[in-house]
Amino acid sequence: MITAEDFAKEVLNRHSVFQDESKLDLDYTPDKLPHREDELKKLLWMFKSLIQRPGSSAPVALVYSSSGTGKTSLAKVLGKLLTSQANKRGVSLRYVHINCKFVYTMSSLVDQIALKAIDGFSVRGAGPDQVFRAMYHRLREHNRYLLLTLDEVDWFINRTGEDVIQQLHRYREELEEPKRLAILFITRIENIGKTPQLKRSTTNRTFAANILELEAYEGDELKDILAQRVELAFKDGVIDSEVVGFIADQSRRYGDAYYAIELLWKAGRYSDSREDLKVTPEHVRMAKASCDPSVRRDDLNSLTTDEKLLLLGIAQVSKDRAYISQKEANSEYLSCCEIYRWRPVSGGELLDHLHVLERVGFIHLDRSNGEATRISIPDIPVTILAENLRQIVVRAVRDEDSDQK
Ligand SMILES: Nc1ncnc2c1ncn2[C@@H]1O[C@H](COP(=O)(O)OP(=O)(O)O)[C@@H](O)[C@H]1O
Ligand SMILES: [Mg+2]
Repeated sequence: MITAEDFAKEVLNRHSVFQDESKLDLDYTPDKLPHREDELKKLLWMFKSLIQRPGSSAPVALVYSSSGTGKTSLAKVLGKLLTSQANKRGVSLRYVHINCKFVYTMSSLVDQIALKAIDGFSVRGAGPDQVFRAMYHRLREHNRYLLLTLDEVDWFINRTGEDVIQQLHRYREELEEPKRLAILFITRIENIGKTPQLKRSTTNRTFAANILELEAYEGDELKDILAQRVELAFKDGVIDSEVVGFIADQSRRYGDAYYAIELLWKAGRYSDSREDLKVTPEHVRMAKASCDPSVRRDDLNSLTTDEKLLLLGIAQVSKDRAYISQKEANSEYLSCCEIYRWRPVSGGELLDHLHVLERVGFIHLDRSNGEATRISIPDIPVTILAENLRQIVVRAVRDEDSDQK
């Protein structure tokens, strides 16, 4: 009979192509970003006054590009560099990075900024204006400066309708000298010009010369980015450079490093699951079947559990259909709730969730057909979407259950 100990030994001793899989996580940011050196220099140039002449000016900048082109990583590297340089010069600078995709209201956004900017800051039910003022007061007390990155700010604007750029602009105007708050806003290129708050004329006025667009990566650049990850995450000799080139070729059409790294990671996983010694082109092909650049796990994770279940329902019925009715979406949502043991929300609330899914770009609502609204998913392969969502929903329901206990 196989004992639990034998089983544990077998699992632990099993061969893996990975040396350190965590280096492939989206949250991991390498210290060096190949092919983003010039962009980093430009950003340093924009923010240098923050440490050269602290208090004289606090710049605001905007970075935009398509998904997976290094916006988040670049901001984090910039934050690290500037804080270490500031410390060397005796300037107290704190870097705060907030992914606005995971924040649902203006007041919770301001609370999060304050909590990260000032240790032990107490919010106690105050409104955003008061919290902001109190935070600024504390910054002054500590003689501290803040570089704030508001990442995925377009997502927040689309979800909430709040013009956070103007709101923070107003706060900054209200602040007395010295200026302590520099801000880097990050958005996806698709929403520049499309979202009213991100119209070219508005952004040009707000940011003037401090606007930086990142180009999508070329095939060779992706190959270098992948080679860096292979070195960090895999054991020596388990991936030939031809396979790395193959992955770069598969992702060059999108110029998306997130997709390239996801393919690399999944190919490694397939190799491990078949107990192979190396990662082969066939593992890459298998990985490709379950990934798509339009399906980013962190986008899906940012939805509430009800939004996840509703989107899963819509994706499931849309497998053989171009358009579905709202009634069908609702009833599929209810059966998903039953399967995953989740208490469903009422029709009115569900409609709000449907509108959020439209605003952040997962679904399209066609209202031209008289009274009935038709729902479609035009841009995302629904099989891959549903497969990813099922895993995410299981985790979300389990986590919320244990939170409630
Ligand atoms: N130049 C680069 N060098 C190394 N890794 C990179 C580079 N650009 C992006 N990445 C990696 O690709 C993934 C996506 O990058 P990210 O910064 O999240 O892009 P974006 O914010 O534009 O969607 C992350 O895992 C990131 O570490
Ligand atoms: Mg990002």
